[in-house]
Amino acid sequence: MTILAIESSCDETSAAVIENSAVLSNIISSQYFHSKFGGVVPELASRAHLKAISRVVNESLDSCGKTMADIDALAVTSEPGLIGSLIVGSNFAKALSIRYNIPVVPVNHIEGHLFSGNLQEEVPFPFISLVVSGGHTALFYVTSFTSYEIMGLTKDDAAGEAFDKTAKLLGLPYPGGPEIDKLAKSGNPKAYNFPRSMMHSGDYNFSFSGLKTSVRYFIQKEFPDGVPEEKMPDICASVQAAIVDILVHKAITAALEKKVKSIVIAGGVSANSGLRTKMYDESAKHNIRSIAPMMSYCMDNAAMIGYIASMKLKESGTEPFFDLSFKVNSNALRAKKK
Ligand code: KG4
Ligand code: ZN
Repeated sequence: MTILAIESSCDETSAAVIENSAVLSNIISSQYFHSKFGGVVPELASRAHLKAISRVVNESLDSCGKTMADIDALAVTSEPGLIGSLIVGSNFAKALSIRYNIPVVPVNHIEGHLFSGNLQEEVPFPFISLVVSGGHTALFYVTSFTSYEIMGLTKDDAAGEAFDKTAKLLGLPYPGGPEIDKLAKSGNPKAYNFPRSMMHSGDYNFSFSGLKTSVRYFIQKEFPDGVPEEKMPDICASVQAAIVDILVHKAITAALEKKVKSIVIAGGVSANSGLRTKMYDESAKHNIRSIAPMMSYCMDNAAMIGYIASMKLKESGTEPFFDLSFKVNSNALRAKKK
């Protein structure tokens, strides 16, 4: 089966062609202009998706020598994400469906990230998947392509938001995650002690909103006239260490509890070099394999959307059917606050 997948839930317009679960193309067009606003502006994101989507879809077909006549089914992200952005992708898919008489499979974006480790290598079930992005922080116990348990969620900010918001306080451009990652490489992670909220809470939920408050007070107290450039690497390394320590501790504790042998990290924050290294090193101590997808599968991409659609169809043994009544839904996963 050949699937054309579309992803447009946030600020990446992406299209991919998946054939029998192999990725033939994965085109990603990123909206870099949001950086001058310090974050994604939803209305501008939707308009940019509208402009890019036709070109991106054509490129995904052309680059692997396919045409719409070769496509058996469409897959599109229907939730969660920015509502206007989701509408652009899902309506484009519905229009293609009507024009070419092929069914559309609506896909949950988080499920796409959840299985993105499998895009590059086979990850035997069961495994733990840590999805960490700008909008989501969630820990899953995954037993098949159609069954998984949510073990923990963030109660407030996502891990990516923690990177982006602290970076903003430090005067770094958006998105702040890669900037902190870059500066942290030459800094001392033990230079400053930022809080590791909920690290030992006894559950698998997360809370990152306290970190940005703590960084704000720290800057006000220590550097009221602005953070000197030479202090930035140490601060970035210390902030990164606080976030990474929590993520690694919870993921490994979950893997030990569930007695699994693999941990997959996915979502934009899984590109973080500190997280990749620490997860790898700490997992190895427990004889657990840590799998971090390559960068184009870490960020938002349509390959992961097409892949999970194809694997779900395969596992359930069903053919995709025509139903264009599915709706988009913006709601992100959050743990209930007590
Ligand atoms: O998955 P993604 O591309 O989009 C969402 O679904 O949110 O994730 C974007 C997030 C941003 O918060 C960005 O700062 C973060 O991923 N990010 C990183 C790194 N690269 C991207 N965070 C830390 N270190 C990185 N190297
Ligand atoms: Zn994402």
